[in-house]
Amino acid sequence: MTRRLLGIDVGGSFIKAGVVDVEAGRLVGELISAPTPQPSSPEAMMPTIAGLAAQLPEATGPVGLAFPAVVKSGKARTAANIDHSWIGADGAALIRRTLNRDALFLNDADAAGVAEMRLGAGRGVSGSVVMLTFGTGIGSALFVGGRLFPNTELGHMELNGMDSEKYASAHIKAMLGLDWPAWMDRVNVYLDRMQALLWPDLFILGGAISERFADFAPLLHCEAQVRPAQFGNQAGVLGAALAAAEAGG
Ligand code: BGC
Repeated sequence: MTRRLLGIDVGGSFIKAGVVDVEAGRLVGELISAPTPQPSSPEAMMPTIAGLAAQLPEATGPVGLAFPAVVKSGKARTAANIDHSWIGADGAALIRRTLNRDALFLNDADAAGVAEMRLGAGRGVSGSVVMLTFGTGIGSALFVGGRLFPNTELGHMELNGMDSEKYASAHIKAMLGLDWPAWMDRVNVYLDRMQALLWPDLFILGGAISERFADFAPLLHCEAQVRPAQFGNQAGVLGAALAAAEAGG
């Protein structure tokens, strides 16, 4: 029987959800979204998640919940772009209470990286890969031989005396009205620093900006290979469901 799992990707601005056929590796129907409630506390967010789930086709098995924070032993440990009341929260327990299903709670960039490595831009790449998601913050996921090193927080690496995500995220690009050359100057500095520290074989650049790769690729200066993410904004939802399936769901 086809396995259809619900994937949810919580962001600072929007919560996205979709049902994923994990064997075919694609969405069944639409990717839907709703604005992230403000404040973005667990109590405020669960009714939004229930509302999204109710609009989607029926799913089986556990839910994958991708979240913009470090997730250790099932609990959120940080909250850079989300309400601080999430720190210590057990995402799987909240989903169980809300949707009456088991869940896998994981970092959002890790989830997006799983989708790209299994099915997208990193498929078949056996070397070292750094996946970066440019959105409200910068998310990161590291892979070697296709295996994830979870909870890397390379968006918080210090750059010019500040968190790099406060220097080079897509949100900063929009907020400061940076054009592609001005933003790429910043992204190049960021990639250079990571190149010097990690020497990956491949960078995958994700988030909505990946759809504009052709516009900014000529401005990239990077020793490693750089590819756009294939699944853009869908990657978190796809990867959350795939990871939930891989975790034994
Ligand atoms: C968070 C990460 C997250 C990234 C992208 C950062 O601010 O610390 O955990 O992956 O934003 O959402």
